[in-house]
Amino acid sequence: MSSDLFTPFTINEFTFKNRLGVAPMTRMSAGDASIPRQDVLDFLVTRAKNGAGLVYTEAIVTDYESAQGYPGQARILNQDQVDAWHRVTDDIRSHGAVSILQAFHCGRMAYEGVNPANRIIAPSPIAPKQDNPMTGKPYDLPKEMTRFDMDHVINGFVETARGAMAAGFDGFEIHCAHGYLHNQFLSAYSNKRSDDYGGSMENRFRFIHETIQAVRPEIPMDRLLVVRVSNWGIADMDVSLFKDAEEWKEMIARFSDEPIDAISVSTYDYSEKAFGTDQTMAALTREATELPVMICGKIHDRESAEAALKDADLVLSGKSMLLNPDWVADVESGNPSKLYSSDEAGVAYTDKPLP
Ligand SMILES: Cc1cc2nc3c(=O)[nH]c(=O)nc-3n(C[C@H](O)[C@H](O)[C@H](O)COP(=O)(O)O)c2cc1C
Repeated sequence: MSSDLFTPFTINEFTFKNRLGVAPMTRMSAGDASIPRQDVLDFLVTRAKNGAGLVYTEAIVTDYESAQGYPGQARILNQDQVDAWHRVTDDIRSHGAVSILQAFHCGRMAYEGVNPANRIIAPSPIAPKQDNPMTGKPYDLPKEMTRFDMDHVINGFVETARGAMAAGFDGFEIHCAHGYLHNQFLSAYSNKRSDDYGGSMENRFRFIHETIQAVRPEIPMDRLLVVRVSNWGIADMDVSLFKDAEEWKEMIARFSDEPIDAISVSTYDYSEKAFGTDQTMAALTREATELPVMICGKIHDRESAEAALKDADLVLSGKSMLLNPDWVADVESGNPSKLYSSDEAGVAYTDKPLP
């Protein structure tokens, strides 16, 4: 069966052998060394072996101070961590897939005890709306970030980018989605600053601009720098983080002016119309940029993957890639493939190795 899904796609030096990628998925398996359990690393290689054209890592936290938001997250800030990931990138490449590391600072989604330095920072001293699923309690009020904090966070992204390149990753993604730190700056809902970093989209964009400008020199121009964006946050589920389609497109246009190579759009459902328009989030994004677009959200079988690819260049799957080792083959052959629930994905956080 022929389909665009199984045609190659090229960005810079990298040709993706097909359009199907493993979305970033946190597994909370790392111990004190901040290195994921071996079976969690093996999972990524298995997905490359089983046909994924692109494999994302879980969200990698960028410092030992304030970046971590969940127990057992990984880092890539020392040689042991670099070595552990190097084996993974080598193996992913040997199966013909592209590897991208996702770098993450959780901002106000941190909580007492999760970070070694126990510091909770955000653009503004406002807590997320929902309770913290990890503690069942409200989140603490974060401290408003100072200039020192901003430089410290940017340094964490720079060091993590260095680690990622040393470990042989083909690309590096700055997590600007899901209500984490950079998303908190971008959205007027969580950013109430009255300095140069709050107010207009130009100001709210300034922190991500500074992060990208600092990180890019660490990523050779032939490797990939990507951002992930979303209109939703993990602990603000029912909030539209951006006002309307115009605001979203203004943000995307600003990203297009940055030295990045692709934009990854995360949705609950790729097919939903966005901001009361008759267009999907991917279609709106495409209108505002010529950069390659990745899309994710409820893409679970051949039909949905083909439909999602109409407005995007690459499609990512989280739960289907997680729970069905043969998902790429099933999409290729058109085998029926179920839509998995979030509850089913809970196995990701157990010590049960995934096939
Ligand atoms: C177990 C699990 C962990 C996740 N961790 C991350 C993460 O670290 N970074 C991220 O950007 N998204 C994360 N997500 C969201 C997925 O990347 C994806 O956007 C989401 O699952 C929707 O896609 P799906 O409908 O194909 O599952 C996670 C999802 C799951 C199921």
